[in-house]
Amino acid sequence: MAVRIPIAVRREVPTGGIVIGAGALASLGELLARRFPGRRVAVLADATALDLHCDRLCPALPRSSPILRVPSGERHKTRAEKVRVEDELLSRQLGRDTVLVGFGGGVLTDLAGFVAATYLRGVPFVAIPTTLLGAVDASVGGKTGVNTRHGKNLIGVIRQPAEVLIDPSLMETLPEAEFRNGVAEALKMAATSDPVLFAELEADCGPTLAREPAALARLIERSVRTKARVVAADEREAGEREVLNFGHTIGHGLERATGYRLSHGQAVAIGVVAETQAAVAAGCLPPEEAARVHRLFAAARLPGRAPADAARGDVLAALPGDKKARRGHPRFVVLEGVGRVRTDPMGGGARGWAHKLPAHAIAAGLDAIGLR
Ligand code: GLY
Repeated sequence: MAVRIPIAVRREVPTGGIVIGAGALASLGELLARRFPGRRVAVLADATALDLHCDRLCPALPRSSPILRVPSGERHKTRAEKVRVEDELLSRQLGRDTVLVGFGGGVLTDLAGFVAATYLRGVPFVAIPTTLLGAVDASVGGKTGVNTRHGKNLIGVIRQPAEVLIDPSLMETLPEAEFRNGVAEALKMAATSDPVLFAELEADCGPTLAREPAALARLIERSVRTKARVVAADEREAGEREVLNFGHTIGHGLERATGYRLSHGQAVAIGVVAETQAAVAAGCLPPEEAARVHRLFAAARLPGRAPADAARGDVLAALPGDKKARRGHPRFVVLEGVGRVRTDPMGGGARGWAHKLPAHAIAAGLDAIGLR
């Protein structure tokens, strides 16, 4: 049975929600007819996801809905690709009575959500994530955008999708490495915000890793609830939304220092190990709680060591470039226990969800991931 999670953050579009359920894709036609009666439907689809799942997506769409293929991969999340699909939508004379559906991973839904936000000054957007990472992260929270040669996601807007439809059965075909990227983000959210899910996975994460439908649906549902709650409290990332960045200060540093050779999920998993140890060294987190985090990430077969060729100096040099940095000082989400992050001020900073850490604590974090 599908679960429906309402999203409280709604400014530009009527309130919808997130539908999660194995086989939920089959209900897309009914969802579109109910929520957007009389509107034309156009789809932007990741080419790989379309090849894998067209037999299920296409029958669920209203007849003669155009499907525009977008090449797979981060390097196609560009302004040029946005222009290309916009021109194609315009040449097909799709008007303001269009609802745009994005079908693919986070790269595709970020691009498609951005197209929907600006096409004819904005048409409603329905996200159908086909990857676990897309389901638990990108499709919830309204961040849309494209990359430029100056960096990732530098051009975009925050605009909530009108609906999100998550069908965990689409994830059966994901390559293992891609699946693990999603697991890393979901465990990160459990570590900061969902001690119940964390304890369940500690007891047995086998069914989740084996992608058993009920276990996967549970992981997605709990993660989406966490993210929807955080985003509802802080849509513009002025405070609490920073909690989603746990593991990301060092994770992003590692990504940059290794020329983006590490996948985002791998970098975040290693970043979580480092930042957990940094929190211990800063006196904020009991070592036994840190050990729980390290054990669960290891049990999920996520990496906990930096690649052998990553240089400590390069990671340190990248930290001030993190978006949470203030006046050149990196800031970190600091765990106080499983499911709890520090909000009290520290290091002369203000109350908040990200904090400066002393140099010895950062050093302890980098030691823990084997960065010399
Ligand atoms: N991926 C982090 C966020 O949506 O804020």
